[in-house]
Amino acid sequence: PRDPLVLFMPSGKRGRFPVGTNLLDAARQLGVHVESVCGGRATCGRCQVEIQDGSFAKFGITSSQDHISARGGKEERYDRVRGLPAGRRLSCSATVLGDLVVDVPQDTTVNAQVIRKPASDRVIARDPAIRLCYVEVEPPDMHQPLGDLDRLKAVLARDWGIRDPVVPLRLLPGLQKTLRLEGWGVTVAVHQDEDARPEITALWPGLHNSAYGIACDIGSTTIALHLVSLLSGRVVASAGASNPQIRFGEDLMSRVSYVMMNPDGRAAMTQAVREAVNGLVAKVCAEGGVDPDDILDAVFVANPIMHHLFLGIDPTELGQAPFALAVSAAVRSPAAELGLAANAGARAYLLPCIAGHVGADAAGAVLAEGPHRQDRMMLLVDIGTNAEIVLGNAARTVAASSPTGPAFEGAEISSGQRAAPGAIERARIDPGTLEPRLRIIGSDLWSDDPGFAEAAARLGVTGLCGSAIIEVVAEMYLAGILSAEGVIDGTLAARSPRILAKGRTFSYLLHDGSPRITVTQNDIRAIQLAKAALYAGIRLLMEKQGVAAVDCIRLAGAFGSFIDPKYAMVLGLIPDCDLSEVRAVGNAAGAGAMMALLNRGHRREIEETVRRIDKIETALEPHFQQLFVDAMALPHKIDAFPHLAR
Ligand code: FES
Repeated sequence: PRDPLVLFMPSGKRGRFPVGTNLLDAARQLGVHVESVCGGRATCGRCQVEIQDGSFAKFGITSSQDHISARGGKEERYDRVRGLPAGRRLSCSATVLGDLVVDVPQDTTVNAQVIRKPASDRVIARDPAIRLCYVEVEPPDMHQPLGDLDRLKAVLARDWGIRDPVVPLRLLPGLQKTLRLEGWGVTVAVHQDEDARPEITALWPGLHNSAYGIACDIGSTTIALHLVSLLSGRVVASAGASNPQIRFGEDLMSRVSYVMMNPDGRAAMTQAVREAVNGLVAKVCAEGGVDPDDILDAVFVANPIMHHLFLGIDPTELGQAPFALAVSAAVRSPAAELGLAANAGARAYLLPCIAGHVGADAAGAVLAEGPHRQDRMMLLVDIGTNAEIVLGNAARTVAASSPTGPAFEGAEISSGQRAAPGAIERARIDPGTLEPRLRIIGSDLWSDDPGFAEAAARLGVTGLCGSAIIEVVAEMYLAGILSAEGVIDGTLAARSPRILAKGRTFSYLLHDGSPRITVTQNDIRAIQLAKAALYAGIRLLMEKQGVAAVDCIRLAGAFGSFIDPKYAMVLGLIPDCDLSEVRAVGNAAGAGAMMALLNRGHRREIEETVRRIDKIETALEPHFQQLFVDAMALPHKIDAFPHLAR
């Protein structure tokens, strides 16, 4: 008879093992990551799995609880003392008796939608760069003059297969005491990324059963940070804060100018962002009840200028052609060198940058959304002051950035403001009467609902947030107030008090309060310029790929989460596509950081992918200007949008 077949889910890895094989060993042999801190002593509880009952015809397996050894003494003891959830087994204490389907619980599902809207969750298989390994070191012996560290290394090699690790000098002074505190039992944190030599990064007496990491997205406006257990994959706490560098300049280029004009500018901005990150670390640790000393790994994504400033690099070169990055490859460093308030041995990893304007944040979004993992042509757009655009599939991926300017963020718009309570976030315009209906942030009511007036009085109607501008302009176009050239039709002033003359141009009165909220001809121009830049960038990449249409669109970032895809298409921000294939994916960059934190394979994946991405510099493409001019019209001078007609 053949050996029993063991199938691990959700990875689907499987293999045959002789009766009596330890289940944790079987997982290891197949390369399935099952956590283990105690090294199979049934004390850490990290190696839990669930055995499935029933027949799995697709794999030709009938799995049953009887096909695994009964709970033994050590496992019973663990259950009595620590409690084992129903249906869970300690894989280190179980042996294979027959065919098995084994579920490795993935407690991690990353919610890319850190902002609003329903989640597009994805499961990340865990294989972090940091492992905790409990070992029992041989006590010293006068006949065997091997040093304490050398005997520690020997047992690490024997029990965990970790050979010749780097040991930082920092750990040596405390080593002897640590080894003796709990009778020669110690937990060792081992960092192993890529093919580099493993490194011991921390040591604790006895069994130390917690290890955390942080995933952080440093945006020019906000910083978002998650605290994650490296052992279970669970997100323990999340926090966000505005980037304190705003006081040096609202947008990226003004921060570069600040560095160029002020001798201490770079240092001040580096310090500001690092302090903000540490503030968030303190916050998530307090919220999650976690000792910052248990933070052993950190992954960061950021746009190129934030990336450089966080690393302490002068970003001046990024402010002018040829937009040279100091470093484009992924950066690996001790976290202490970045001033991170974590364990003294904690590691840091920054995803690679794609190009001078397409940063590690775009790389994070690529990792999360995976255009390179599928055959369909995926357009991935992160809209900010610079739109980062990626278009591709498994065969080829191209990327560019386009200077959309701050209009989409509400700047340069007469009534524009940041998204905050009281800002108009939704709008509809009746094509007959030209009267608007509005909704403001902080209230679920439309302006014609009873009770809206009270809500508006309480919150104040203060301005238009960036996502609403798209909607208002699109509604103005659909209501016939705007021509395809983007001109407000002044003849309508005769039939609607909403159309106001202003010199030689006209405005649309959206809300008659204080302040008075209008959309001016200049506002429309600013939106046209921004959307034309975005669309032209997308079209350029479509030409590079030789495609006339894209199969699916992913809108990343806060702005992408708020805009209604339909309106984005009505205005021609994005190319024609089946609307059901257009999806907001929230903070995809942050989700990518989380993936790189929990699985070192994803680090290799994104490094290889970024190396293969063709970088297109829009400024160097003579054709770009024509694409830009064509894209000024609403929705477009030439391109059709058949999916809107349906
Ligand atoms: Fe620690 Fe099984 S490996 S309990």
